[in-house]
Amino acid sequence: MGGSSLANSSHVAGPGLDGGPLPRPYRAARPAILGAPFFPDHGANKMAHEGDVIGARARFLERRPNNLRHLLEKRFGWMNDYIGPHTKALELGCGAGFLQLFVKSPVTLSDVEQRPWVNRVVDAMKLKELGETYDVVICSHMIHHIARPMQFFEDLKSVVKPGGLVLINEIHTGLVMRLLLRLMRHEGWSYDVDIFDRNTIANDPRDPWSANCAIPQLLFRDLKAFEANAPGFTIERFELNECLVFPLSGGVIAKTRTINLPNPVLKLIDAVDALLIRLAPDVFAMASRVVLRRGP
Ligand SMILES: C[S@@+](CC[C@H](N)C(=O)[O-])C[C@H]1O[C@@H](n2cnc3c(N)ncnc32)[C@H](O)[C@@H]1O
Repeated sequence: MGGSSLANSSHVAGPGLDGGPLPRPYRAARPAILGAPFFPDHGANKMAHEGDVIGARARFLERRPNNLRHLLEKRFGWMNDYIGPHTKALELGCGAGFLQLFVKSPVTLSDVEQRPWVNRVVDAMKLKELGETYDVVICSHMIHHIARPMQFFEDLKSVVKPGGLVLINEIHTGLVMRLLLRLMRHEGWSYDVDIFDRNTIANDPRDPWSANCAIPQLLFRDLKAFEANAPGFTIERFELNECLVFPLSGGVIAKTRTINLPNPVLKLIDAVDALLIRLAPDVFAMASRVVLRRGP
């Protein structure tokens, strides 16, 4: 958890990442406001406990704060529609392992870092070494932390059974999310990466907590482009979600102060979020939900 952000990683290079000239096609992906690359150092993070998954899990299990429980129920509960008692399922990058508290059937929890609740240590950048296939693979807020996203999707094909599914939760850097990230100096972004080039390094490969929060948007802003560049996967579902409910949670792993609210108020906030996201998705949406199906 040192201070090795992408911005100061000497060996990380690529359009817009190493301060080199920016070819036109990459610039096109940049939002007009707060679109330039931003990579705060870990040491500048105004949220507490960045990367402290052990503390995050202990605090949640001890206090079950209502706002965070509500957020996690929304983040993971929808996966129960895809995972049954006989589904062989694997989560990559499980962090604090919250998924298993909200998904009823057993899921193999994996992460690149060993934790007491981690069933198997798996590096998502070395999936070819896994030697096993799954009906369902889950990636929740993990893809924006990996170094080579297209290499990841290429190798993912060898882990998902034909006809199987990939369930994804991701950050969506709408304008309000970019403002929040900027304010809290929590995680950064660069839209200036050629996302569909398998050799693109979009994050610091040495640091599992380095983040490029633009990655999911670059991957999924044009669903047909994703399918053309990730042959073997089709997109079955894509939704934007989470606005006020995310900052109100107080953070899943890194923490800020919040005031816990009763369930009826949280339900009202869900309705406000849905309206805001329908009105202006690229302003208000802070997360996305994606389902990919692996072809035969
Ligand atoms: C933001 S946490 C998400 C945790 C959890 N999935 C959730 O949604 O609450 C990101 C996790 O991805 C893991 N991670 C980062 N790079 C990884 C890699 N190459 N392979 C596997 N896990 C990785 C980190 O160790 C961290 O636990």
